[in-house]
Amino acid sequence: MRILAIESTCDETAAAIVTDSFEVLSSVVASQEALHQEFKGVVPEIAARAHVQTILPVIDETLKRAGLTLSELDAIAVANEPGLAGSLLVGVVAAKALCVAHNIPLVAVNHLQAHIFACRLAAQKDVFPCVGLIASGGHSNLYCCHSPLDFEPLGGTIDDAAGEAFDKVATMLNLPYPGGPAISKVAENGDPRAFAFPRPLLKDATNLDFSFSGLKTAVRYQVAGQGQVDFSELNLSDQTVADVAASFQAAVVDCLVGKSLLALKRTGLGVLCVGGGVAANHLLRKRLQQACTEVAAELHIAPLALCTDNAVMGAIAIERLQSGLTEDLSLDINPGLRRIGRMT
Ligand code: KG4
Ligand code: ZN
Repeated sequence: MRILAIESTCDETAAAIVTDSFEVLSSVVASQEALHQEFKGVVPEIAARAHVQTILPVIDETLKRAGLTLSELDAIAVANEPGLAGSLLVGVVAAKALCVAHNIPLVAVNHLQAHIFACRLAAQKDVFPCVGLIASGGHSNLYCCHSPLDFEPLGGTIDDAAGEAFDKVATMLNLPYPGGPAISKVAENGDPRAFAFPRPLLKDATNLDFSFSGLKTAVRYQVAGQGQVDFSELNLSDQTVADVAASFQAAVVDCLVGKSLLALKRTGLGVLCVGGGVAANHLLRKRLQQACTEVAAELHIAPLALCTDNAVMGAIAIERLQSGLTEDLSLDINPGLRRIGRMT
């Protein structure tokens, strides 16, 4: 069985063809990074329009690389939640049209479950039940993942997502968008102890929530003081930029690692799966590995290519198909909230 998976939840237009034994026949990701760079963040209207332009060429290229035609597919899967409304609509409409034209089943993909499924794909074995940490530009959530298709929320950010904080702090430091890779690169030359930035909620063992907005403000006060400021006119030395980046990164990583460990303890589970763009962060990967080794937990972090948005992780659609979960043409999008309820 071969499935075409489509991903257009945010600012990557992606498609992949996967088999029911999770073999990846082809994968194409068209990033819109260059379009959003000058705005230092994703502009929803621009993202949606770019998906419209790119989605069919991306699907064509995916088929070409797999040496297949649309009539050789057994189903089409599309991420319909959560994400930017305009972006989601493009993928869902494209998937529906292709399903009607070729009379094949339509499968819905939850983008957050797909981020954790990237760990299942890389592990090449069952990893459920597990604690799932999703840290991306739009989400920073912890789940008890009973199965690939049943996620119970344990906690999440009460304000900004971790990736969003990386992106905003990068702007303050005059670093390019997306901020995560840029901050982690300059942080290599910085001292993570140079500035004592807060670790919000980390000591509060009563919950599994994150808060990155106050940390972001602490960085702002450190580099620019209070009041109006044009960050592009700040004349910070390279060393200060590196030290702020390293100290900020250390604070975010402490929070993500600390709450993940608490989630393992609370649930009694021995497996941690981590996905989303921020999971590409080298320090986070290293610290999670150390922490999981200490508590003898099994750690699965999505491989770098499957951390940021891609369609390969849409292979979770195989699980849905095998559970008889297909959709009719009334399938809607669900842009969703930051803290979403149980996902089944
Ligand atoms: O999962 P993703 O591609 O898109 C969303 O679903 O949001 O995540 C993008 C986010 C951006 O905020 C980006 O700055 C962050 O992931 N990111 C990183 C790194 N690479 C990407 N954050 C920290 N360190 C990285 N190496
Ligand atoms: Zn994502």
